[in-house]
Amino acid sequence: MTGQSTALVVGASRGLGFALAEEWLGRGWRVIATARGRSDQLETLANRFPDSLEIQPVDINDGSSVRALRERLSGRRVDVLFINAGIAREIEASPVSAHETDFLDMMLTNAFSPVRAVELLRDLVPAGGTIGIMSSELGSIAHATGFWQLYASSKAALNMLMKGYAAKHFDDGHALLLVAPGWVRTEMGGGDAALSVAESIPRVVDMIEANRGLAGLRYVDRFNNPLPW
Ligand SMILES: NC(=O)c1ccc[n+]([C@@H]2O[C@H](COP(=O)([O-])OP(=O)(O)OC[C@H]3O[C@@H](n4cnc5c(N)ncnc54)[C@H](OP(=O)(O)O)[C@@H]3O)[C@@H](O)[C@H]2O)c1
Repeated sequence: MTGQSTALVVGASRGLGFALAEEWLGRGWRVIATARGRSDQLETLANRFPDSLEIQPVDINDGSSVRALRERLSGRRVDVLFINAGIAREIEASPVSAHETDFLDMMLTNAFSPVRAVELLRDLVPAGGTIGIMSSELGSIAHATGFWQLYASSKAALNMLMKGYAAKHFDDGHALLLVAPGWVRTEMGGGDAALSVAESIPRVVDMIEANRGLAGLRYVDRFNNPLPW
């Protein structure tokens, strides 16, 4: 790959997705950052990086919105496609106490929609490029403790869907990364989380860089350590 590298970060209005966009911009990349509504944070970042940040609207739960994004990006090359969007609902609940719709919303936003977005956007990424999705340490079935049980199940479902994706598209030549960023203080992670954004995201970007050109699916933490499925 020659010239300026491009990252497409889906779900970059705030939190970890915003920090990923900012980190890649700081490293000299071009970034296409998506938000489903107006993001003052992204607008401010665009003022700092007017030549290298582009903001695009997309709601990953709306297939036609993702298809429209794909159309708008026709002819573009994306070196790293990163699906960050995710939600957490009813983190303390179990199936007996949760509202069914909250669980279904998490399955849609955290598992089904990210993998559909990858299916719809994958041909923007040339062989040798990278597709990442924000999973979580909590998506590991082997390490499950019951903590954030319903959210954790949606991330395990994401991992499973990507296993299937990787098997189907084994000859794409993409590095496929299910990323566990650590427990981070964002709106979702909450104030008790162990890490600041600055302690997580630069390591995540280093890890993605270390996987450049290494085709195949890996479930890894921010230090590039493999996690048990
Ligand atoms: N924070 C942690 O400790 C932690 C740990 C492990 C994994 N993760 C994962 O990391 C990712 C980011 O988490 P975060 O902590 O930064 O959460 P956050 O602060 O709540 O941000 C979530 C982001 O996802 C976007 N989003 C949600 N639903 C969307 C949709 N349907 N279409 C497009 N964008 C959508 C949000 O956009 P809006 O502004 O429009 O709502 C926002 O940009 C998530 O996948 C999360 O599960 C977080």
